[in-house]
Amino acid sequence: MNEPQSVVASPYEVLGGADGIARFVNRFYDLMDSDPAFATLRAMHEPDLAPMRASLAGFLSGWSGGPRTWFDQNPGKCMMSAHGALKIDRDGAEQWCAAMARAMADCEVDATLAGRLNEAFARMAGAMAR
Ligand code: HEM
Repeated sequence: MNEPQSVVASPYEVLGGADGIARFVNRFYDLMDSDPAFATLRAMHEPDLAPMRASLAGFLSGWSGGPRTWFDQNPGKCMMSAHGALKIDRDGAEQWCAAMARAMADCEVDATLAGRLNEAFARMAGAMAR
């Protein structure tokens, strides 16, 4: 007899897997790199955003229920602690959330899931800001 198959799609699947996640993550960093509305956020990052494009996409893949390669490569790494040494204020946190919301909308991420993710990101970013 066949094993029962889950019919509930994971967020990773709804996001379009690795390709879908790479699309809106790249849009996020393109917006950060080009729109003056995100200048404070851009200034906090290294000139080369390529490592961040790979790292955020990898993190979000595992976090949303996909391959956990990023977590295997970064054992024990906590996203909140990783931001603990950064000076993140309300402005930076709001810019992060606004850029991500726009990136997901521009890439036509499923609106219900995007709404849930925006709420989760706002909670994380709010806790990272001081
Ligand atoms: C509160 C707003 C946030 C700000 C201002 C911020 C800023 C930053 C900065 C400046 C870096 C280092 C970049 C570099 O080295 O060029 C970073 C790394 C990173 N951030 Fe954020 N971040 C924020 C929120 C978030 C959230 C909510 C997530 C996850 C959903 C996230 C995921 C990451 C990841 C995966 C890395 C790379 C860690 C690594 O590879 O070591 N960030 N962030």
